[in-house]
Amino acid sequence: MPDSLKSAYQVLEESIITYQGRPIGTVASHDPNAPAANYADCFVRDFVSSAFVYLLDDQPDIVKNFLEISLKVRDTQEEIEGHQMLPRVMPASFKVITHEDGSEELHADFGDRAIGRVAPVDSMMWWILLVQAYVHATGDREFAQREEIQRGIRLIMGICLRDRFEVFPTLLVPDGCFMIDRRMSVYGHPLEIQALFYASLCASVELLRDDDAQNHPIMELTAKRLEVLTDYVRNFYWLDPGRLNEIHRYKTELFGHDNANMLNIHPETIPDWVVDWLPDNAGYLVGNLGPGRMDFRFFSLGNLLAILFGLTTTDQSNKILNLFDQRWNDLVGSMPLKILYPAMEGREWQLLTGSDPKNIPWSYHNGGSWPTLLWAFMAAAIKMGRRDLAEKAFEVAKRRLVQDQWPEYYDGKAGRLIGRRANFNQTWSATAYILGHKFLNDESTLDQLALGNAFKRKKSR
Ligand code: GLC
Repeated sequence: MPDSLKSAYQVLEESIITYQGRPIGTVASHDPNAPAANYADCFVRDFVSSAFVYLLDDQPDIVKNFLEISLKVRDTQEEIEGHQMLPRVMPASFKVITHEDGSEELHADFGDRAIGRVAPVDSMMWWILLVQAYVHATGDREFAQREEIQRGIRLIMGICLRDRFEVFPTLLVPDGCFMIDRRMSVYGHPLEIQALFYASLCASVELLRDDDAQNHPIMELTAKRLEVLTDYVRNFYWLDPGRLNEIHRYKTELFGHDNANMLNIHPETIPDWVVDWLPDNAGYLVGNLGPGRMDFRFFSLGNLLAILFGLTTTDQSNKILNLFDQRWNDLVGSMPLKILYPAMEGREWQLLTGSDPKNIPWSYHNGGSWPTLLWAFMAAAIKMGRRDLAEKAFEVAKRRLVQDQWPEYYDGKAGRLIGRRANFNQTWSATAYILGHKFLNDESTLDQLALGNAFKRKKSR
């Protein structure tokens, strides 16, 4: 095994958390100088790439334990005054506290302790996707059919499909409720949540038992929502030079059904950078869409997950990869991968991040580069037959990650600097690298994780 892989596996090994003698998850970062205490927690979203590694290495027990424990910690949540208890289902993170007498206790954060008090909407979706990956990798269908797992899926779908003050098929969520877990003007209908929502709807259709009558109403609603969500995202989030021209000449203030500009997007909101930046044979899904608002920023993870899960059409997926290819310096540069492009600067940064010093331009969530995004990029590229891009990104990562001790993120327009407040030994930086290596060596690993199947299902529709 090459030294860089050995080092990545060592980071993973040292990150394991146990409870009552069983491995149940991995800490976010094994850096004793990490700036926030909760980096020693097991985050649901961070565990996903650890879980994929364990599934591909034929060590599924830790994943199974994790899936059970993260359901169980729901019972530990405290009531928030003035709130009717909602089945918040999945925490952002949890940890094991060992008392003096040696007894152990699970502590979970449902957003009630997190910095900025943000609720993790993505956790419950990642949980369903991990159940699906576990079943595909192990063939243990009985696990998903257990009553507590079926109930978990029903509860999650119940929350997502419940009617609110909404007229769109997409999900309305607060700022910072996913990988970007600070104020970054990502409230509303952010792409990453919609891609995860889509994939968890697909996974639920597959996992819910149809011999159980309790599941039928949810299954019906899920199938309908999938259809409308797919059409809506493919049509209205999509941006390529043709669409940009249409938006540039949009009529506004149109009342009634069947308007091209039903959201009343004002052409004046098209930012200058996008017009010359978007190449002719490329396109992407915009970051957010709501009444009078199109966020033109490019968000990597949402676009990559859309490709992986099959939310985009084949043509759209190819065009997103063309964008990476032709804007390599902006989106990959010295470290794969930019979390979003471009950064918010000046007054916009002040107003929309609340002058957040951690999210200054080209740092952290505001245009920083995150090694963890490597796995999703390589998987999406390989899936679409762009192995060349996957190999190129892997080479860039290989040159630095091990030598820099697996940082959490990088700073700078091209990602040349180790993030000012980045942890070292960040578990999901190391696991993304291991996964990238596995995907290159054996492309069928994608199918084993249920990533390939979701794609085929959509294509044959
Ligand atoms: C940061 C990231 C979040 C991640 C957490 C633990 O808060 O924004 O996505 O889950 O660190 O690594």
